Amino acid sequence: MPRGAMPGESCSRHEAWKGAQMIGKKVEAAFNQQINHEAGSAYLYLSASAYFQALGLEGMAHWMRVQAGEERKHAFKFYDEIVDRSGRVELLALGKPKMEWKSPLDAFKDAYKHEVFITGKINDLMRLAEKEGDYAAAEFLHWFVNEQVEEEQQVVRIVQMLERIGDSGGALVMLDEELGERKGE
Ligand code: FEO
Repeated sequence: MPRGAMPGESCSRHEAWKGAQMIGKKVEAAFNQQINHEAGSAYLYLSASAYFQALGLEGMAHWMRVQAGEERKHAFKFYDEIVDRSGRVELLALGKPKMEWKSPLDAFKDAYKHEVFITGKINDLMRLAEKEGDYAAAEFLHWFVNEQVEEEQQVVRIVQMLERIGDSGGALVMLDEELGERKGE
């Protein structure tokens, strides 16, 4: 207990030490929300993987499963950042993901729309970090800004190929084989 403090008062010396790079409440809450978005992304891509599995498109199922793994890693990055900055992780509820699409093209178009949504969330986080003067958070978020450019770009490429393929079953099988070569889990 600090000198002069009454019994029951908090030890401010400990809290001051802990607070050197301690995450602020607003950024902490927003990072916890982002864990939920990233985990929700993993859930959505795993559901899309199951959809492709049911269609017998093993390569696309594999691609979506690898993407689910990437999203899980993103969720863990936010989790670890909160812990590293003496914050408190709070896991929020996940909704049931969509499980049916009209076609492979429809599923990949949905993936693109989802990535645009996530990019918006990362940009919101960056704005919040800057507003709060949290430069450690802004630095951490730079990795995600670049990652989103890559993620959107790779899904756009697949959407473009599927649009070109149209109703050609043979070309779809070839694309399925190509996507099955994606490295990852
Ligand atoms: Fe983690 Fe695909 O955004």
